[in-house]
Amino acid sequence: MIRCLKNPLTRTSHKAFDTMMDLKHYLQTYQETINNKILEFLNSDDHSSRVLQAMRYSISAGGKRIRPILALAAAEATHAPAPVLNVLPAACAIEMIHTYSLIHDDLPAMDDDALRRGKPTSHIQYDEATAILAGDALLTLAFEILSSPANPTRESLSRHLNVIHVLARAAGYQGMIQGQMQDIRAEGNKIDLETLIAMHSLKTGALIESAVVVGALFGSANPKKMQALRSYARQIGLAFQVIDDILNVSGDPEELGKAVGTDLDRGKNTFPGLMGMAEARAYAENLVQTALKALELFDNKADPLRGIARYIIDRKN
Ligand code: IPE
Ligand code: IPE
Ligand code: MG
Ligand code: MG
Repeated sequence: MIRCLKNPLTRTSHKAFDTMMDLKHYLQTYQETINNKILEFLNSDDHSSRVLQAMRYSISAGGKRIRPILALAAAEATHAPAPVLNVLPAACAIEMIHTYSLIHDDLPAMDDDALRRGKPTSHIQYDEATAILAGDALLTLAFEILSSPANPTRESLSRHLNVIHVLARAAGYQGMIQGQMQDIRAEGNKIDLETLIAMHSLKTGALIESAVVVGALFGSANPKKMQALRSYARQIGLAFQVIDDILNVSGDPEELGKAVGTDLDRGKNTFPGLMGMAEARAYAENLVQTALKALELFDNKADPLRGIARYIIDRKN
């Protein structure tokens, strides 16, 4: 049974959604809704399953849930009927794909990180084999969820097929995995700005863009609105990784829940590394301004998307 969310916007729908308090409330409410639904999906009586324990460990460790929230917010922006009811399973599936990518990203063969979401990474808490399998299982569970729509109709099945296609492509070798490959291959070699932008757009941007597109598909966005939302998502997706790079230099590990200074140690190509901190921040701000412009044709139902764009550059974790 899906919990009904009291839409935090109903209180303020008549006025602009422009205060940080509104956004904080919006994010917290949706984080809770998403967390509850994820636990429902991972609820099994099989307490002896090590892989299930490891899946629950990483996905329950925290996390901002920004990708699933973007899917819900994009659905709202396009006036989707009952976003929480209809989009929530797909939103949770997106968070599962993201969490799998983090578990694998932290492995010794990749970034070799020991701390994630304020807790020991999966391979430290369990072991490498378990971490690999927990990641694999989250990825496959995501597609199991996506391919099992509740009360399917001809129309909803066709949309689900589209959603599966969008997410599979964004997560795969033409999207996130390609970006991860480029990131690893470029360690220790200096790449130029254009290559860095292309790499970050794939490794982080592709999944963020797909989350927004999935929400828009549930809202049956017309081509013009879909294009605008894609443009918004591309800008904020890139800005998100620019800020991740900045926080790896100047963030507080306690607040971030992960180590800092690691990009430099590993010879990673980053925006602050290539252009300096001040320029990297200005670049992220510029991207967010462009993202906000892309939303000009939307009414105040897109205010959460506007708030999230600003949150992405102001965030401390
Ligand atoms: C971290 O993503 C990895 C990147 C793609 C930059 P988030 O910053 O969204 O991590 P969580 O989900 O909040 O832990
Ligand atoms: C993670 O990128 C991106 C993916 C998992 C796809 P990073 O390696 O830059 O992110 P953090 O800093 O470990 O969270
Ligand atoms: Mg990495
Ligand atoms: Mg990493």
